[in-house]
Amino acid sequence: MVEISTSFLSVEKDKVMQAIYNLEVAKTDYYHIDVMDGKFVNAFTNEIMEEYSGYMKSVSTIPLDVHLMVNDIKKYVDIYLNYEPNIITFHIEAIKNKDEAMQLIKYIKSNNCKVGLAINPNTPIKKLYELLPYIHLVLVMTVVPGEGGQPLIESTIDKIKKLRAYIDDSNYDVYIEADGGIKLENCDLVKDAGADILVSGTGIIRQENYAEAIKEMRK
Ligand code: DX5
Ligand code: ZN
Repeated sequence: MVEISTSFLSVEKDKVMQAIYNLEVAKTDYYHIDVMDGKFVNAFTNEIMEEYSGYMKSVSTIPLDVHLMVNDIKKYVDIYLNYEPNIITFHIEAIKNKDEAMQLIKYIKSNNCKVGLAINPNTPIKKLYELLPYIHLVLVMTVVPGEGGQPLIESTIDKIKKLRAYIDDSNYDVYIEADGGIKLENCDLVKDAGADILVSGTGIIRQENYAEAIKEMRK
């Protein structure tokens, strides 16, 4: 059975407290926090995502799954450590070399937080290989990062399959999280490819019944 991480990127500010409560009742496994710096991607979401993270920490015990789409990774790791996330994920495309990645991985772990590496649709999975032994999770982007509500890019399904095979053949204990355009209609494709955690924003938030949607997606 997969886990579900609901993205708050498409949650309106005036509906956020209701969404936090309803998604906890609906038993989402994580709240997915999409942090964008306006540089790595055009959108800027830090302020509202900090506000949402604060609310979540004050009223819920659902773990935070923080997805950093930023260039200055250390700056945003320090910001979001304040919200005691379960996991922080940063993009391999924002890293200059292995040393920098290893520093960040060690730093995040030393703060009692799991660490993930995110990879864009057009970045080859071999870019991750040397870092797989040190991380908990790979976040495979199934859309180009930057906004919610986009259609899933079909070619990323095969990428998940290949990554799953490489992780299993190497005996690494690394989870695969898929993120972007995941809906009830296509989630089986993503699960069958080997994803352990599905991120869904509009695929859940736009549903009448969150609990039903999450139960269906998790099956
Ligand atoms: C996109 C974000 C995704 C997105 C998912 O840059 O990383 O988490 O919000 O939203 P949907 O499920 O609507 O594509
Ligand atoms: Zn995301």
